[in-house]
Amino acid sequence: MYIKKLIGTKCYLSPMEQSDAPKYAAWLNDLEVAVFTQIADKSLSVDKERDILASIGKEHNYGIVDAATDALIGSCGLMDIDFLNRSAEIGIVLGDKAYWGKGYGAEALSLLLDYAFRYLNLHNVMLRVYAYNPRGIACYEKVGFRTIGRRRDAIMRNLAAHDIVYMDIVADDFYAASGPA
Ligand SMILES: CC(C)(COP(=O)(O)OP(=O)(O)OC[C@H]1O[C@@H](n2cnc3c(N)ncnc32)[C@H](O)[C@@H]1OP(=O)(O)O)[C@@H](O)C(=O)NCCC(=O)NCCS
Repeated sequence: MYIKKLIGTKCYLSPMEQSDAPKYAAWLNDLEVAVFTQIADKSLSVDKERDILASIGKEHNYGIVDAATDALIGSCGLMDIDFLNRSAEIGIVLGDKAYWGKGYGAEALSLLLDYAFRYLNLHNVMLRVYAYNPRGIACYEKVGFRTIGRRRDAIMRNLAAHDIVYMDIVADDFYAASGPA
């Protein structure tokens, strides 16, 4: 059973546990998942993942747990939090591919953004997504992110150069997209 920190209808967010290192490492070594992330060209052992979890687990990184089954299905988190300027970067991976395209990503991001705006006092949250990830982009637009620019041909994957799309969201965009605060 996982701790329920931020609770939605499809999923809840829970502090990351080092004991889940084998699961996270398996997902991040799955190239069908990793192709959309910065980890695809790296080697990640379970031991290394355990060390990473020990460090990032102390920050605002959370496991995404299916509310119906209490199964861990991925993770999301805030990076580079700048409390002076109230900005951060957000990232998400649903490692269990069976959950893709069913609204879990949008709900997990909404839970984390609501927490970021209400409890961490953040104002602007950005993300980067590869242009060949239309599911990711559609998910982020649904939550209220807007494209703010593209870094052209900046990611080499599958023998081709692709743009990196930059998107951001401020609290007003978020609460306009998700209904009244
Ligand atoms: C990106 C990711 C977090 C999105 O979460 P998700 O739960 O799959 O997304 P959602 O179901 O909330 O939203 C996806 C939307 O894209 C749509 N979609 C799915 N495939 C699509 C495609 N090929 N083209 C366009 N839209 C697509 C879905 O229909 C859905 O929109 P809808 O709810 O209006 O029908 C998840 O798919 C994932 O982790 N993928 C692998 C790793 C990854 O890409 N991480 C992000 C790196 S920036």
